[in-house]
Amino acid sequence: MRESGKPQAKKRILTGDRPTGRLHLGHYVGSLKSRVRLQHEYDTTLIVADLHMLTTKPGREAIELIAENARGLVLDYLAAGIDPDITTIYLQSAVRETYELNLVLEMLITVNRLTRVPSIKDMARAANLSDEEMPFGLLGYPVLQAADILLPRAHLVPVGKDNESHVEVTREVARRFNQLYGEVFPIPDVMIGEVPTLLGTDGQGKMSKSLGNTIYLSDDEATVNRKIRGMYTDPKRVHADIPGTVEGNPVFQYHDAFNPDVRQVGDFKKRYREGKIGDVEIKDALAKAINNFLEPMRERYRAYVADAGFVDQVIMDGTERMRGVAAETMKEVKKAMGLSGSLNRIARAAERRRKRLEKN
Ligand code: TRP
Repeated sequence: MRESGKPQAKKRILTGDRPTGRLHLGHYVGSLKSRVRLQHEYDTTLIVADLHMLTTKPGREAIELIAENARGLVLDYLAAGIDPDITTIYLQSAVRETYELNLVLEMLITVNRLTRVPSIKDMARAANLSDEEMPFGLLGYPVLQAADILLPRAHLVPVGKDNESHVEVTREVARRFNQLYGEVFPIPDVMIGEVPTLLGTDGQGKMSKSLGNTIYLSDDEATVNRKIRGMYTDPKRVHADIPGTVEGNPVFQYHDAFNPDVRQVGDFKKRYREGKIGDVEIKDALAKAINNFLEPMRERYRAYVADAGFVDQVIMDGTERMRGVAAETMKEVKKAMGLSGSLNRIARAAERRRKRLEKN
């Protein structure tokens, strides 16, 4: 409690995702799990970052999919346990201050610095863009993200490992702004999930839609069973009596992440290393664990889907709330920069002229 007797305002979180598809287990352990927990301690805002989507995929075709993809993404948030009564969820492109702050921040970082952000090259590669085809806006991806984070003046950003470097850029840009114009922005901290990189079911790399190795939060029981049955394990184990490797084996990474029965998992690992257990037994137990884990989400999916328009209302309310917050911050930004002062001076001079002409 502060002296005034008012409770201390909660610190703020800003985080979110591009509306490119449904959320999977990798999203959950990488960042969503923290968001669900932290929403009770922080004033939390989730961004549906549709403008970021345009950095690699501009054009009407992608834009026409935004509304539907946004609904799917927000439905996944709610099913995962994001509480729409306490968390603000908004559509990035509908908040004009995003565009304004982005431009202000673009002046506070060098091209050279941005070319050293590793995820930008990864995104360009994934979008089949050569160096010559690098869009100016894709290079500026982390700056736009900084605008998102700084608009609500967030203190904490729970994101996946691949976004860590973007929060670092945000910190640098915020420090630079404060240094040039005065303290407007808190320097936000990043928070990475307990499992920074969940492997895909193919064990070949991280879980990702483009690799087709995902288990979605919205997958039904039969789909989960089928995907787990088909999972990659240690390929040298052509028989159950061949000792296997647990490290880097996605089946065991999933057991560690989703099976609360720690003793069972320990026993499986031991017998696997000794060549005393078959893959099927381990996979069946894993499928059961993941289905148990997803069951409460399935219940929420059913409830939210039954209430047509609910998700849309959540996005509308959140966007309206965010517009107010963003306007407040941009006012502070322009005041600190003295930017509104320029036109005010000009306006006063114009007014003097008008009055002078009136008298004559
Ligand atoms: N870059 C995030 C992604 O990988 C999406 C995003 C946009 C974001 N703005 C943000 C995440 C602000 C956290 C905070 O999809």
